[in-house]
Amino acid sequence: MQIIVVENYEEMSLRGAEILAAVVKEKPTATLGLATGTTPIGAYRELIRKYENGEISFRDARTVNLDEYVGLDGSDPHSYRYFMQDQLFSHIDIDLSLTNVPSGVAADLAAECMRYTKMLAECPQDIQLLGLGSDGHIGFNEPGAPFGGHTHVTDLAASTIRDNARLFDRIEDVPTRAITMGIADVMQAKKILLMANGKNKAEAVRAMIKGDVTEACPASILQRHPDVIVILDREAAGLL
Ligand code: F6R
Repeated sequence: MQIIVVENYEEMSLRGAEILAAVVKEKPTATLGLATGTTPIGAYRELIRKYENGEISFRDARTVNLDEYVGLDGSDPHSYRYFMQDQLFSHIDIDLSLTNVPSGVAADLAAECMRYTKMLAECPQDIQLLGLGSDGHIGFNEPGAPFGGHTHVTDLAASTIRDNARLFDRIEDVPTRAITMGIADVMQAKKILLMANGKNKAEAVRAMIKGDVTEACPASILQRHPDVIVILDREAAGLL
């Protein structure tokens, strides 16, 4: 695990975007595993800047997102499909038919999980971008999620609902379930880039890097992946 500590969110975003851009430059047909949430917004902004400068193109790239809220359609501004359109896809030259986000409104969610797992196995991520939950989750693999798991529907932890309530009008509006890649789907990525910033991630960062590898801290499994880069700002690295 390579750990990079930087001063602030801005620097974390620049470093993260450099790593993602390098993958696409080396392999234009790369499969990029992407995340939503507040953490990657700055890195996506920087990727858009690189695209606008003519430094990179996403024309032949494919993307696979980690997760989606159950019950939210892609046209809902709180959905992760909408987030990706808004924060990245609509600003770059990606072929939308090559972008994948699990569907949270599939009539048969179990079938959707199987479809997504199969799709991931067929085009493994050249790089998977991850944020980190304050409870140590990656994707929406909450504490206790099995390390061998594939795409599944999960209940969100109470702390995750609280953390995500900032993006909704009322906490009651936060969906309580999500469809997420499993840990085994994340671990199949050739390379993993995890970014975390802010004080409220410091304990999860400590458990991920210094703690035992245990399903109680899903991110701790990353200690067993051969190619992981972790970029932290000073506050998130505060307990290392
Ligand atoms: C998002 C995801 C989540 C977030 C995590 C951190 O697709 O899978 O694991 O990365 O909840 O969220 P933020 O970045 O909002 O702190």
